[in-house]
Amino acid sequence: MNKAPFNDQFLRACRGEVTDHTPVWYMRQAGRYQAEYRKIRSKYSFHEMNLNPEVAAEVTRFAVEQLGVDSAILFADIMTPLPSIGVDVEIKSGIGPVIDNPIQSRSDVDRLGELDPLKDIPYVMETIKMLREQLSVPLIGFSGAPFTVASYMIEGGPSKNYYKTKAFMYTDPEGWHQLMNKLGDMTIAYLTAQVKAGAQAVQLFDSWVGALNEADYRTYIAPVMNRIFSSLKELGVPLLMFGVGASHLIQEWNKLPVDVIGIDWRITIKKAREVEGITKPLMGNLEPALLLAPWEVIEERTKEILDQGMEKPGFIFNLGHGVFPQVKVETLQRLTSFVHDYTRKNS
Ligand code: CP3
Repeated sequence: MNKAPFNDQFLRACRGEVTDHTPVWYMRQAGRYQAEYRKIRSKYSFHEMNLNPEVAAEVTRFAVEQLGVDSAILFADIMTPLPSIGVDVEIKSGIGPVIDNPIQSRSDVDRLGELDPLKDIPYVMETIKMLREQLSVPLIGFSGAPFTVASYMIEGGPSKNYYKTKAFMYTDPEGWHQLMNKLGDMTIAYLTAQVKAGAQAVQLFDSWVGALNEADYRTYIAPVMNRIFSSLKELGVPLLMFGVGASHLIQEWNKLPVDVIGIDWRITIKKAREVEGITKPLMGNLEPALLLAPWEVIEERTKEILDQGMEKPGFIFNLGHGVFPQVKVETLQRLTSFVHDYTRKNS
């Protein structure tokens, strides 16, 4: 297969270097908003898609080709490694991950096993190897961060207020730290295996950690996040992180040994840099619901983000959260071209 020359714009932006245009990719760029995805999904369960490297690679690559984005994200889920440590999880369409044996006590934490990625989930690393042969943009590997993964493990499924998770944390801090350490070990093993297989950057999704305040973040979460990122640093690839509704934690994140901070639409790029004093490269942050608005509105709001983003090197355009199933493919295609054209002219 003849590959196009490698597009390194995303990796350059992660390192805070000058780029030819602002690189762009979208969280959940492979998913149900695509007819081609829905067709494949009608033949396999989500888990079966993950198990089959040809299918997972196809879905990953297709999104890149269809949208013209500057990076690929591995098709898998933050729940993918959990069955290997003893947590039965099922992804239910339209609901999300559902777990039949939630963590309720310290003894449930004690029972959790260790992840051996190459033995337990070799198909993920196979997918990565296959993709590296096929792609001409960087491949992002990823994992769920301990708080977000723990929230599903304790609540048993999606939650609005995370009260069971918080009750566990406040009631048994030692058991909580044990859980964070086990999930930290899992994350390090998993992401290390992904990078060794060929992932060129890795992102930690801490989608729901914004439910905590700064002081609790420092006490219950920062230690494990520091350990994860310090350990991954040795791999030499850019490390990214992301959370929803977590602008109040941005200064805590800036202290972690992470390279890129992904933010949602609740804070502007300008405020993150100038008021919060964020020095690291940023990624974000178009409100995903705007993708359902008329193009003129999308364009205006995207320009605002890009004008701020381009003020200094080290900016990656993305949404503030994942693409909704209702979004039209054409909207994302147009948005990708717009970001590229606008930032090429104005940089
Ligand atoms: O394209 C990509 O972004 C790569 C693949 C990816 C998926 N999930 C595929 C997926 C990534 C990076 C994730 C991360 C993920 N999974 C997160 C963190 C990011 C975020 O959205 O906050 C979380 C919290 C999950 C847990 C999860 N898995 C949820 C909430 C859902 C959605 C439920 C639904 O049906 O809308 C899933 C399922 C899931 N993961 C789908 C996809 C494409 C839909 C599965 C289907 O086809 O039914």
